[in-house]
Amino acid sequence: MPIIAPSLLSADFLNLERDCTMLNNSKADWFHLDVMDGRFVPNISFGIPVIAHIRKATTKVCDVHLMIEEPGNYATAFKEAGADILTVHIEACTHLHRNIQQIKSLGMRAGVALNPHTSVTFLADIIEDIDVVCLMSVNPGFGGQTFIPQTLHKIVSLKEMIINTNSKALIEIDGGVTIENAPDIVAAGADVLVAGNTVFKSTDPIETIAKLKVI
Ligand code: DX5
Ligand code: ZN
Repeated sequence: MPIIAPSLLSADFLNLERDCTMLNNSKADWFHLDVMDGRFVPNISFGIPVIAHIRKATTKVCDVHLMIEEPGNYATAFKEAGADILTVHIEACTHLHRNIQQIKSLGMRAGVALNPHTSVTFLADIIEDIDVVCLMSVNPGFGGQTFIPQTLHKIVSLKEMIINTNSKALIEIDGGVTIENAPDIVAAGADVLVAGNTVFKSTDPIETIAKLKVI
């Protein structure tokens, strides 16, 4: 069964506590928290104080996806805010190995996200150090976009690399995941499904999460 990580980017920010409670009462495994700086991506979302409040509203895993430049400057602050998993973009990290070691030394699991155009082969010499690989299946910055089908090939290649290297990395798919395309994504080898619009714009989010969970 896949790990389900609803993205709170699509939550009702005026009723964030209500949406956190809904997720707590659902089969969701992780809270996916999208941080955008208006530089790495052309949008600004929320940051450290909001995550610190969400942390108080759940005991589930807080999976923080940093779409920001120079993420190393903020790793300690996100740890203190309550992140369990901290994911940085490979495109934002000149010294990725150092960033990963920093995240782990702070006691968090380390994630690396790849934009749609970035080949998984760039992970060949670092895959054994990574806990989560987040493959972007849309261009990061906005919720509610359409899944890019090429991602399915990337999942297959990445899975092969993970098996060949005995890496423990989980494959997380982020962007445009729906009830309809989730079976193909899981069949290709994905371990974690992020879902924003599919969960929060549905008439029954708890039921939608339950459906994703049994895919
Ligand atoms: C996109 C974010 C995603 C986004 C997913 O930049 O990283 O997590 O919220 O939203 P949906 O599932 O609506 O594509
Ligand atoms: Zn995300």
